[in-house]
Amino acid sequence: MRKKFVAGNWKMNTTPEQGVELVKNILRSIGHSCASANYIVCPPFTHLSEIVKVARGTAIRIGAQNCAEESKGAYTGEVSAEMIAATGASYVILGHSERRQYYGETSDGLNKKMRQTYSNGLVPIYCVGETLEERESGKLWDVVKAQVEEVVFHLSEVEFRHLIVAYEPVWAIGTGKVATAAQAQEMHAFIRKVLTAKFGDLAAKTPILYGGSVKPENAAEIFAMEDVDGGLVGGASLNAADFLAIGDGFRED
Ligand code: PGA
Repeated sequence: MRKKFVAGNWKMNTTPEQGVELVKNILRSIGHSCASANYIVCPPFTHLSEIVKVARGTAIRIGAQNCAEESKGAYTGEVSAEMIAATGASYVILGHSERRQYYGETSDGLNKKMRQTYSNGLVPIYCVGETLEERESGKLWDVVKAQVEEVVFHLSEVEFRHLIVAYEPVWAIGTGKVATAAQAQEMHAFIRKVLTAKFGDLAAKTPILYGGSVKPENAAEIFAMEDVDGGLVGGASLNAADFLAIGDGFRED
């Protein structure tokens, strides 16, 4: 049995005050949720300390959305993995398509971020996914394989045991166009096959989350797929009821 996760990627949304309120709202209702999923929320850097305090001792874990490539020094505007870990956060989203697209993140830089993440005891949620053009031209398999191999294959076995992968087709992010459950399963099984080629049976334990327009209405169907171990949720994670309803997609009934 693999661990199941529902992770909320808040992106650049909420003020610290609104973020605290959102987490409190999630916590108020989480007791009523029958989900067997682990919940993670990833607010902006500015809220991390405060939200870690609010979530301490609860079922919710906290993550950041990015970290610096370097450990410290003259890198104006950057936030190191050590700083993130010091807030009490335990996860970091790395390689999100918005960062690859708008901030030019490449495998080289992501390898450095992975180093920082593991050296500071954080768990990376490593995102991969193809664009619409890459899917339509049949390049999707090569693209995703390269994103996995160029970064994940540099991990040690010990590190690999603490990795979460998120498959997020770029064409499904924030567009309302969700991949079908079959499309998600097909790519998740492929990613697991690529991971197995390098890490053997350990890959059977790696949680692979689906991301891209996950909503309460489609979560259960996607999460029912064999190789889908949860979701990385953007828009719908900004609403406490929707976020928890997505987790209920794992309800065993
Ligand atoms: P979305 O975003 O759920 O709003 O499509 C997902 C993500 O980018 O992680």
